[in-house]
Amino acid sequence: MSTYLVPDQNTCHQPTSITGENQIPTEEEQAYKKLDEKLKGLLATLPKDKGWRSANIYLHEGFWLSPQVIKGLLMINNYFHAQSTDIFLAAFMKCGTTWLKALMFATANRHRYSFSDHPLRRNGPQSAFPFLDTHIFLDYPITKFEHLPSPRMFATHFAHSLLPTSMSSPSSTCKFVYVCRDPKDALISKWHFMSKLRSKELPPLSFNEAYELFCNGVSEYGPFWDHVLGYWKASQESPEKILFLKYEDMKKEPSVELKKLAAFMGMPFSAEEEKGGVVGEIVKLCSFENLSNLEVNNEGGGAQKFTAQVVVENRDFFRKGKVGDWKNYLTEEMRERIDSITETMFKNSGLTLGLTKEA
Ligand code: A3P
Repeated sequence: MSTYLVPDQNTCHQPTSITGENQIPTEEEQAYKKLDEKLKGLLATLPKDKGWRSANIYLHEGFWLSPQVIKGLLMINNYFHAQSTDIFLAAFMKCGTTWLKALMFATANRHRYSFSDHPLRRNGPQSAFPFLDTHIFLDYPITKFEHLPSPRMFATHFAHSLLPTSMSSPSSTCKFVYVCRDPKDALISKWHFMSKLRSKELPPLSFNEAYELFCNGVSEYGPFWDHVLGYWKASQESPEKILFLKYEDMKKEPSVELKKLAAFMGMPFSAEEEKGGVVGEIVKLCSFENLSNLEVNNEGGGAQKFTAQVVVENRDFFRKGKVGDWKNYLTEEMRERIDSITETMFKNSGLTLGLTKEA
């Protein structure tokens, strides 16, 4: 279920389960046990609040995370070492990860596959490359992702300040593509998504409750604004290391943004490719209309296993794919409050995002 494409081999890699039938050697078992103990001790010391999917989330180093995700973070810090050629896709939840996964994969592998018979069509964008936050402990042994060809690509929702220095230090040459979105649309998208994943043992999270939590920063991987600001500042300091994209710009001018992306990834389109329509082909292949209609992204098409508890159907990564759906949910007063948080938080940063007067 939790698979990702291995370019060149044109196959899906199936991580070996660490919890299932496979025998785990003692050393590995001990490492897991130690980590569980560390997590337990850590959780006992952290402030907690209401989770959107599970009962509680915890404030860890300034960001709200579920226990499973904190475990992933501990593992990343303990076991993951970025390579100089790695490219990370980072985003707050529901800001365009799926879209960017498809675009980055299609761009990096454009010489390998024909657009009409492309692995993305069969497997969908979630399979394009691993989601570091959870795949690090779905793979066994605690994965080094060594089987992935260079440049390795990974997605993460973790805030910039939480990442190990092998990834985030300006002196390491690995790169980040960060995509963000109007917080109002991120809120709507996240509420829909998390409501689907929410444990059936819990009462549903009403929209008003989600809105209140979101405004207070209490939302998995959030506060939203600190997440965006962390990557924004890092991108200002090291523009060669972090490409900062906005969902809205991509919707408006996908070809322009795709060309930026390809150049940043060190794989610029040649004049010949541009003339041959390669940019347009990738935009079309990765469009919401195309991806959301693929069999693999429809009912029964498949699912992604993020943790033992969290399995997400591929189709749930696609909803409307539009800018401004918040207008169907937020009152004027609610809009005003979110916009004013954005304005205050981003003041003097040079960043604007989703302000109504900007549109
Ligand atoms: P909506 O819920 O507003 O429709 P993520 O991939 O980070 O989880 O974000 C999901 C959001 O991106 C959802 O937004 C989803 O519909 C939208 N999305 C998914 N694939 C897309 C694509 N190819 N183009 C544009 N938007 C896309």
